[in-house]
Amino acid sequence: MFIFNPPVIAHRGLSVAAPENTLAAFRQAKTAGINWIEFDVMLAACGEVVVIHDATLERTTNGKGFVHDFSYEELKKLDAGSWFNSHFSHERIPTLEQVLELANELTLSINIEIKPFVGQEEETVKRVLHLLKNKNIKNPFFVSSFSLDVLRYVREYSKEILMGYLMDGWNAGWKMVCDELDCISVDIDHEILTREKAEEIKKNNFILLAYTVNDAARAKELFSWGVDAVFSDNPKKIIQK
Ligand code: G3P
Ligand code: MG
Repeated sequence: MFIFNPPVIAHRGLSVAAPENTLAAFRQAKTAGINWIEFDVMLAACGEVVVIHDATLERTTNGKGFVHDFSYEELKKLDAGSWFNSHFSHERIPTLEQVLELANELTLSINIEIKPFVGQEEETVKRVLHLLKNKNIKNPFFVSSFSLDVLRYVREYSKEILMGYLMDGWNAGWKMVCDELDCISVDIDHEILTREKAEEIKKNNFILLAYTVNDAARAKELFSWGVDAVFSDNPKKIIQK
């Protein structure tokens, strides 16, 4: 269904070389020869879908407070790059719309991780699906979430959208969840993955993705267990021979 070649997804863009979840990080992923990017989305106060990992602004911008308390008009003024390196001081928090446009321009495949603020699950899903429907995305894409509420809303509002079930703790009932919600992939913290668990998932014909893997030897081991691709901050390290 998907081709992961090389079998690495740039986690929040090429986040080893550029500030995570910025247009610079996505551009650098492409330049490094990576075909898939992952990024995180949530809602700004005005309902705009923005690309950022934390619910708060402090770690990756020069702002303070919760993302959902600010309109995009306010968020777009923040510096989302200097925390990483002053060279990136012009980077801004992107909107989902901007990243979808960039992905089309660069021929990037995308994994949109929906990370709603608590209580905003349904509204976040509706806004994300609206954008996906209206954007004419040219490359393969899927959405994923740790939140079962999010996955359920996605399936309620769209029968077609491809979806991954994110697991940061082992759920022995993972297959029931994936069957009920018609997920195509299991995206799991590599630290809780074992050969047996990988085989169980692959035996059931799901795509298996593991995060966040920055060590080449570990990636090799995961691939030998049947992992289809790894999320990495440093994809070049994973694909080097
Ligand atoms: O989707 C894989 C990975 O991004 C999940 O964890 O916290 O880095 O978003 P996190
Ligand atoms: Mg993520």
